[in-house]
Amino acid sequence: MLSWDDYNEPETAADATSRVKPQAENKPVDITVPVTPTTLQAPAAAVIDQPAAEVQAPAAALVKAPAAAFMDKPAAAFMDKSAAAVIDKPAADLIDESAPLTPVLTAPKVESLQTIPAELEGGKRVTVDQKRMINCRTDLNQLVPFKYDWAWQKYLDGCANHWMPQEVNMTADIALWRSPTGLSDDERVIVKRNLGFFSTADSLVANNLVLAVYRLITNPECRQYLLRQAFEEAIHTHAYQYCIESLAMDEGEIFNMYHEIPSVARKASWALKYTQEISDPTFTTGTIETDKMLLKNLIAYCCVLEGIFFYCGFTQILSMGRRNKMTGTAEQFQYILRDESMHVNFGIDVINQIKLENPELWDDEMQQEAIEMILEGTQLEIEYAQDTMPRGILGMNANMMADYLKFIANRRLNQIGLPEQFAAVKNPFPWMSELMDLKKEKNFFETRVTDYQTGGALNWD
Ligand SMILES: [Fe+2]
Ligand SMILES: [Fe+2]
Repeated sequence: MLSWDDYNEPETAADATSRVKPQAENKPVDITVPVTPTTLQAPAAAVIDQPAAEVQAPAAALVKAPAAAFMDKPAAAFMDKSAAAVIDKPAADLIDESAPLTPVLTAPKVESLQTIPAELEGGKRVTVDQKRMINCRTDLNQLVPFKYDWAWQKYLDGCANHWMPQEVNMTADIALWRSPTGLSDDERVIVKRNLGFFSTADSLVANNLVLAVYRLITNPECRQYLLRQAFEEAIHTHAYQYCIESLAMDEGEIFNMYHEIPSVARKASWALKYTQEISDPTFTTGTIETDKMLLKNLIAYCCVLEGIFFYCGFTQILSMGRRNKMTGTAEQFQYILRDESMHVNFGIDVINQIKLENPELWDDEMQQEAIEMILEGTQLEIEYAQDTMPRGILGMNANMMADYLKFIANRRLNQIGLPEQFAAVKNPFPWMSELMDLKKEKNFFETRVTDYQTGGALNWD
């Protein structure tokens, strides 16, 4: 449908979007239909007579008689006499000037425009020193002054990185997927498993953000980023749905993998247990125990789910794209990887800020638990790699992926100040680090902005 935004000139827009177009130049269209007995009688009576004649006699009689009587009478005859009398009278006669004016609705009592409403009275201007990541008691409706400039910058970068799934051409993928010789069976398993895992994993992340984390992070600039991230998670789920629909996959099969395929279900189940308690609407932070629960949730979702669980699938699909297979799906994944790289960075910054402001939370017990969480997550992702790659494929195999995941796990541990747990592991997929290297994040986004503004396609090196 056309909209105002499709036109530069207001006159053009008015013409093209107008519901009633003039039929002749400079001649207004008369859209009123004269109501006369003749107008009503002929077509209406014919229409009613036709079906009525086909039904049985008593019914026909019921339809015909009142209808005909109705049609023959002039319109005025249908009016209530008192109503006709009202219409005949001039308007002034109908107004009783002595009657008091009674408002239909009672307006709320407004004391004075000069008075501050009681609920806002006594509020103080927020200073940077008062702002805290959790358990902040100051006004959270004041975005500035910023305390965490990095959070605001990530919000700006996320907006500059905006994209939509429909921008990606899926034509080649559709042809390849339909072709009986286009992909091997192992390659088809990889595409389906990853769409199955990601299509629900991003919903898990979005629900955790909106229903648990947002409320408990008490800083406006971080909340601003979380709102942006929540929308990006919706775009990611949209992207997977777009791929699934484009490839005419069995939606029930794909969307139910997270509780039907063990290697997918175990990852989803692991993440879910860290959101259940803190997404209870009555849950609040403020004690060491509850603050630690929030911290564990952030480690589970940022470091493990987004930071490890996504990486086998990303690597597999992007490797396919590098081999000129499923390039549309791979392009969607590349855009998602860019977003996820920032989600992980943001989450790690939040975790480190909470540690800084609440050092009592980061005791030996908590550190050991964080290490175990990351080790568990790495093991689950290695099992996912083994399940999705029973044989070598796309220039990789499950053992190489295990090394890669250990390399990623070391990085996550480092990022939150914990010792590496896997000795002497190297990155077997240096091309992946080029795509997601956090140190290149700035250039990454600058490239993305240029691509987006010019509508250029991503290049595969
Ligand atoms: Fe996502
Ligand atoms: Fe994410």
